[in-house]
Amino acid sequence: MKTIKLYNDVEIPIVGLGTYQLMMGLQSYKTVLSSLKIGYRHIDTARIYLNERSVGQAIKRSKLPREQIFVTTKMWNNSILNKKGEQAFKNSLKRLGLKYIDLYLLHWPIEGYLEAYKVLEKLYAEKQIRSFGVSNFLIRHLENLKAHGLKKPMVNQIEVNPYYQNDELIDYCQKNDIVVEAYSPLGGSKYSCLHDETLSRIAKKYQVSTSQVILKWLTQRNIIVLPRSKNIDHLKNNLELDSFVLSDKDISDIKTLNKNFKTGDDPEVYE
Ligand SMILES: NC(=O)c1ccc[n+]([C@@H]2O[C@H](COP(=O)([O-])OP(=O)(O)OC[C@H]3O[C@@H](n4cnc5c(N)ncnc54)[C@H](OP(=O)(O)O)[C@@H]3O)[C@@H](O)[C@H]2O)c1
Repeated sequence: MKTIKLYNDVEIPIVGLGTYQLMMGLQSYKTVLSSLKIGYRHIDTARIYLNERSVGQAIKRSKLPREQIFVTTKMWNNSILNKKGEQAFKNSLKRLGLKYIDLYLLHWPIEGYLEAYKVLEKLYAEKQIRSFGVSNFLIRHLENLKAHGLKKPMVNQIEVNPYYQNDELIDYCQKNDIVVEAYSPLGGSKYSCLHDETLSRIAKKYQVSTSQVILKWLTQRNIIVLPRSKNIDHLKNNLELDSFVLSDKDISDIKTLNKNFKTGDDPEVYE
């Protein structure tokens, strides 16, 4: 699978499996195991998804060499607020049953994030994580890290989809060599883009699915995508992005679809 190089030379597969709302237990376990069997090599979980244990069990069961799988998890807000970042990391590692994490993110820029970010730097220096980054950080939060002399994050995981294009933040990250990961790339549960007329027309032209058009629109711009699915056909479909290239006209048509409809919480006002 195509990878993107982070500024510390670590490579990250461009398509990852999103695991939010997959639920703890059997559903997460089965989905992650199936995804690894059909070729996924990048799994995005988080403490708050309550499925780290199932993700870890599926990884173990897959019998794939650990170094072939890229695992991301995220520090949840209570640990950021209460300055319990190191403990949070140890617990995540234990639940996942892993010796290291490939990418560790701060989930939200809430009170205490500067201190929590220093924990990421420490874990990185200790080689307990191969790379680190943030999620839901706006330009002002990224600038604040810089103002405090902290290392640049390798990744910012943010909402990006045709109805919430987030161009200004993407431009800022890409100009600063921070890799963008698109969460809710298909519009999530609230504002699904999957039945959009323009996207369906483009999909028909290339004989692909609407989901593939959206994922291609992102990966063509070097944005990592994290589609979530519990359906094996959809999982396969979301990996097959090499048979077509979107034209400039397709891309400008998709640009007109932005509605600033945000499916997730808004970091501008999040507390
Ligand atoms: N950092 C953060 O704050 C944050 C916030 C939200 C999400 N995320 C991450 O981003 C991931 C993805 O976002 P999301 O879970 O909100 O939703 P999403 O991936 O945008 O959309 C998921 C929906 O799309 C459907 N779907 C997927 N592939 C499809 C296909 N090929 N054809 C038709 N339908 C398809 C799924 O249904 P089926 O199961 O039926 O396929 C599901 O209903 C999350 O799982 C999580 O890892 C991060």
